[in-house]
Amino acid sequence: MIKIGVFDSGIGGLSVAKAIERSLPGVEVVFRNDHEHMPYGDKPPAVVLGYVVPILQMLVDQGCSVIVIACNTVTTHHIATLRRRISVPLVGIEPMVKPAVQHTEIGIIAVCATPATLASKRYAWLKEAYAGETRVIEPDCSRWAYMIEHDAVNEAMIKRQVDAMCTAGVDVIVLGCTHYHWIEDLIRKLAAGRAIVIQPEEAVISRLKAVITKANERQS
Ligand code: DGL
Repeated sequence: MIKIGVFDSGIGGLSVAKAIERSLPGVEVVFRNDHEHMPYGDKPPAVVLGYVVPILQMLVDQGCSVIVIACNTVTTHHIATLRRRISVPLVGIEPMVKPAVQHTEIGIIAVCATPATLASKRYAWLKEAYAGETRVIEPDCSRWAYMIEHDAVNEAMIKRQVDAMCTAGVDVIVLGCTHYHWIEDLIRKLAAGRAIVIQPEEAVISRLKAVITKANERQS
């Protein structure tokens, strides 16, 4: 049975791992996180890279033939370096700027992500490449991942932030951190009738299927 590694700083990746298990019942999913060092989103990228490499290597040593980096923070800063250092294919996750721009009717989107993701060159490139005339709002979500990891979601705070996004005219909200997938339903409910909410699990699963098919072809 093919083993797929899924990695995140914390429980964000668990939501992705569960989605993979639901869609690909014939695979074994090995989930690893780095709860001790999370949140990654407020740490210097070089420090985070030092945490991530040994964990990914461990997944390779455990027999994973592909690894999903279920972390926007790690993908946006380090995917290229990791692809050079880790010997199996890596599937990354990054904020869905392009699909959001395609969906917006008003021309204003919100990207909810960690401070590190928002500060990354890759995210700047995504906006440069795909946002065009679309206005991109980046609410301060710096406390969200920690709050979600520690099961201490402050619904009133989330409501204020979602209301502020909608009042600013946003009609598409991008969940650009996998931790936020756990509060997707809450955000969807708060934004109902005003904005849609998008996150990348489906896209990641399609990408993963393509990578597995290619690997199987190479083996046969
Ligand atoms: N879940 C991670 C992401 O998608 C990061 C959360 C954190 O550790 O700050 O960016």
